[in-house]
Amino acid sequence: MKQIVAAKKLNLAIMASGRGSNFASINEAIRRGDLDAEIKILISDKPDAQALEKAKDFNIIAKYINPKDYPNRDAYEEELVKTLKNLDIDLLVLAGYMRLVGSRLLSSFENRVINIHPALLPAFPGLHAQRQALEYGVKYTGCTVHIVDEGMDSGPIIKQVVLPIYLDDTEESLTKRILQEEHQIYWRAIQLFAQGQVYLKGRRVIILEKED
Ligand code: GRF
Repeated sequence: MKQIVAAKKLNLAIMASGRGSNFASINEAIRRGDLDAEIKILISDKPDAQALEKAKDFNIIAKYINPKDYPNRDAYEEELVKTLKNLDIDLLVLAGYMRLVGSRLLSSFENRVINIHPALLPAFPGLHAQRQALEYGVKYTGCTVHIVDEGMDSGPIIKQVVLPIYLDDTEESLTKRILQEEHQIYWRAIQLFAQGQVYLKGRRVIILEKED
């Protein structure tokens, strides 16, 4: 069983392609003093991502990196790794980042890239997870924080929250309820890393009691 990061105030990098409400909720948890971390940078692969605007409002360095400026994914990720290493990043937090992460980035941040997904994985990976759950007819869904591997939403699971699906739910109402829970669990999952509580045994994430 191996510890992923020893207890410390974490240097975080956040990657977002869109709205950035999870980014905002993590920033808010830090501001309240509930999360022992500092967001060193917000990186987006989309020039018009609202997350970039939010970063400016929060006085956080915001960087747009265009994957199309690089000949291939390795070269793009090499640039990301350089940026992240320069800032001494402990944990890379994907928050609505709409790309698969490749081996160049994952090998430099082994088990230290995490993501949030709006379904109870391994059910409904990929896009439109809330719509997939409604259409399938499951009675419960939720959200999952997981370690990123090279697959699509397939890495070891850190934390999940279960929510019922109501008869009158629409994709919009369900998305809204799940998002409220996302904003509660993501920073809590990150705080487990900051307290040195996260261990990996095979593909099982073990959360140990808080270190003193
Ligand atoms: C969230 O639903 C998250 O689960 C998914 O993408 C969405 C991002 O929303 N991965 P936001 O940009 O954090 O508001």
